Amino acid sequence: MMNHSQSTGADYNYTIVRQFALTTVLWGIFGMAVGVFIAAQLIWPQLNFDTPWLTFSRLRPLHTNAVIFAFGTSALFATSYYVVQRTCQVRLFAPKLAAFTFWGWQAVIIAAAITLPMGFTQGKEYAELEWPIDIAITIIWVSYAIVFFGTIAKRTTSHIYVANWFFGAFIITVAVLHIVNSMAVPVSLFKSYSLYSGAVDAMVQWWYGHNAVGFLLTAGFLGMMYYFVPKQAGRPVYSYRLSIVHFWALIALYIWAGPHHLHYTALPDWTQSLGMVMSLILFAPSWGGMINGIMTLSGAWHKLRTDPVLRFLVVSLSFYGMSTFEGPMMAIKTVNALSHYTDWTIGHVHSGALGWVAMVSIGSLYHLIPILFGHGRMYSMKLVNVHFWLATIGTVLYIVSMWISGVMQGLMWRAVNADGTLTYSFVESLEASYPFYFVRFIGGCFFLSGMLLMAYNVIRTVKASKDSLPAIAEA
Ligand code: HEM
Ligand code: HEM
Repeated sequence: MMNHSQSTGADYNYTIVRQFALTTVLWGIFGMAVGVFIAAQLIWPQLNFDTPWLTFSRLRPLHTNAVIFAFGTSALFATSYYVVQRTCQVRLFAPKLAAFTFWGWQAVIIAAAITLPMGFTQGKEYAELEWPIDIAITIIWVSYAIVFFGTIAKRTTSHIYVANWFFGAFIITVAVLHIVNSMAVPVSLFKSYSLYSGAVDAMVQWWYGHNAVGFLLTAGFLGMMYYFVPKQAGRPVYSYRLSIVHFWALIALYIWAGPHHLHYTALPDWTQSLGMVMSLILFAPSWGGMINGIMTLSGAWHKLRTDPVLRFLVVSLSFYGMSTFEGPMMAIKTVNALSHYTDWTIGHVHSGALGWVAMVSIGSLYHLIPILFGHGRMYSMKLVNVHFWLATIGTVLYIVSMWISGVMQGLMWRAVNADGTLTYSFVESLEASYPFYFVRFIGGCFFLSGMLLMAYNVIRTVKASKDSLPAIAEA
């Protein structure tokens, strides 16, 4: 690949990339601060101050929506708009439409941040937003697809770089998932009822939910990985053949795995077994991607000693590998009988969310921001290093505490006395969980402080570039 890192970006539309890159940091802090707050509420319930809009039940969806759709999706917008221009060697197609996706997306985030605490919800996890916001999302997403695929169509390169395959699959599939799962009959401006009912509704919801994991939290971020890991390591992708094979395998398999969220429910038994088997097979393409990313470092391992940005990227791949090993295990029905409803699920989620999604985004942003704003360096690499350790320790504290409390809860709930009565009451299991909730809270504080350091570092980098604009223009 060419080394573009010295470019000032005069040939590309970087405005939109800059906007999304900065809002990624902003929304990351917001979403994670809400995460830390609800983690604290689980230890000190008084923190809801008897105020409806501060209750856990309303702030939890605010957290999940903010981290997935404001933080994670902004990172995907920023990197996909950047990568598609660099690898196709053309400016972004339809710049006005691209600007519309930025402002439209901010409006959606603000609408979510207002309506969720007010209690407006469709009651579907990760698809809580009411129908007017859903329609706005659809319009913005279709515009995003037009800008992205329009840019691919006018490319000056002969091939389509693999990162764009992953971004493209993510954009198309999220559109389909969102439109199908959000089908509802409105009864007022802020209330609607799902078009589906009963077990069918549950099935559609988890077809959506699991593929949001598969295509938004996985395929999109793999697109990011396929560009930024080789760039930061200064090495070509380990195997293009593997990238294509695991791409098609991932796409073909994820779509079937949703029922593992509905084990032992009213869903037909055969669909549960199908979901389990497909999840087990899914292990192979997931690790294909992880291995391809890690092996890209062949010949560049020594860089890990000095480059904290590369460390972010490599550690994110390790967490990706870990959570995609754990996921198939949890999809086995007998294992799920223990893990479901417990904090083990929450641990699994955050090993993917903090370890993979957040770390790969942070690493990519540390690569990107100096190119977008400065002379190719962050204001302080020392702070990037401190951030790396805060994020890594924070993630480990979070997931290890949840693993222990999850397995403990599962075992306590199923323990029975000789006479068949339950050994422990639910409240006893809750009491036993408190120390682990506290460790998770501390882990969250670590992760959030890392993000605050990042914000400071980014502000200083942007400021330094502004102070020396003439110098950059001459560079
Ligand atoms: C400072 C960092 C974070 C903290 C302290 C935190 C904390 C929490 C807490 C306390 C919950 C509720 C758990 C429960 O109901 O028992 C939760 C749920 C969740 N969080 Fe986070 N979180 C953080 C970062 C993130 C990030 C970056 C993502 C995604 C990219 C994420 C995605 C989720 C999801 C998807 C759930 C719902 C899990 C489920 O329903 O199984 N979190 N988080
Ligand atoms: C091969 C890959 C994976 C498989 C087979 C898998 C499997 C599973 C299983 C079995 C559950 C528990 C369902 C339940 O008991 O309710 C689960 C929950 C979850 N996983 Fe994964 N997982 C994988 C990768 C990932 C990754 C990489 C992420 C995040 C980036 C992720 C995010 C989630 C979320 C958010 C939930 C909680 C859903 C909810 O109940 O709200 N998973 N996954």
